[in-house]
Amino acid sequence: MRIVVLTGAGISAESGVPTFRDADGLWEGHDVDDVATPEGFARDPDLVQRFYDARRRAVASVVPNAAHRALARLEGAFGEDLLVVTQNVDDLHERAGTSNLVHMHGELRRALCAGCGARPVWDADLEPRPPCPACGERMLRPDVVWFGEMPYELDRIEQALAACDVFASIGTSGAVYPAAGYAALAAAWGAWTVELNLEPSDALVPFDDARSGRAGELVPAWVEELLATRNEEESTGAPTERD
Ligand code: OAD
Repeated sequence: MRIVVLTGAGISAESGVPTFRDADGLWEGHDVDDVATPEGFARDPDLVQRFYDARRRAVASVVPNAAHRALARLEGAFGEDLLVVTQNVDDLHERAGTSNLVHMHGELRRALCAGCGARPVWDADLEPRPPCPACGERMLRPDVVWFGEMPYELDRIEQALAACDVFASIGTSGAVYPAAGYAALAAAWGAWTVELNLEPSDALVPFDDARSGRAGELVPAWVEELLATRNEEESTGAPTERD
C-alpha cells in the first residue's frame, strides 16, 4: 500500500505555530500581500526579513506534537511507500523523525540566494543581510515560496499521487493551489481519500472519509488503524500493493 499525506498549518497548531486563515487573512498581524509576495519583498525587504527571522526563532522554540510523531511512526512501518508533502515551512515533521518529506512551500531553516540560487541551511537571522556562503553576494532571502512563485518538487509529488492507494489531507484549508487540488487528483487516479481537519474544508470533490477534530487526536488514531490493517494483511498474506 502506498500513501501520500498532505499536511498544512493545522498539524502544527497544537505545537503553538499559528495557522494562516484563522485570523482574518492576517498572518501574525501582517497582510499576506506584504510578507508573502515578491512584490511585498521588493517594497520593504527589511520588514519581510525581520518577519521571517521572527518566525524562524518562534519555530525553534516549539516541539513536534502527537500528530507529527504518529506520521513518523507510519514511516517506520511503510518506509518509502509513505510520502509526506507539507505546505508548512516549519521543521516539525523532520524533528519528529519523518524523512521521506517534501517541503513544497520551502523551509524557514533555509535561505535562498537571489544571486546564485544556492539554498543553504540557515538558522540565523537574515537581517542585517549576511553574505551568501556560496557566492558572497548579500542577496539572501527566506527559502519560502511566496504567492506567485512555483512550489518545489511538483513532479515528484504528482508521480506519488498517481501511484498512491491512500491520500490523506491533514490540517489544511484547501485554499491554496496546487495543493488544494491534490485530493481530487489522487481520487481521479484511484486513491481512497481521507481528510483529518478541525472542520471540513472546501474540497473540490468529497473525501471518502472526513473526520473533524484536532490533529493531535485524529492522526494518531488513524495511523493506528493503518498499522493494524497492514499487520492483518501481512499475517493473512493479502496483497498490499495497488493493482
Ligand atoms: P490554513 O491556515 O489556510 O488552514 C489551516 C487549517 O487547519 C484550517 O482548515 C483549520 O480548520 C485547520 N486546523 C486548525 N487547527 C487545527 C488542529 N488543531 N487540528 C487539525 N486541523 C486544524 O493553512 P494551510 O492550509 O496550511 O502558503 O495554508 C496553505 C498555504 O497558505 C500555506 O502553506 C501558506 C499560506 O499562505 C505559502 O506560504 C505559500
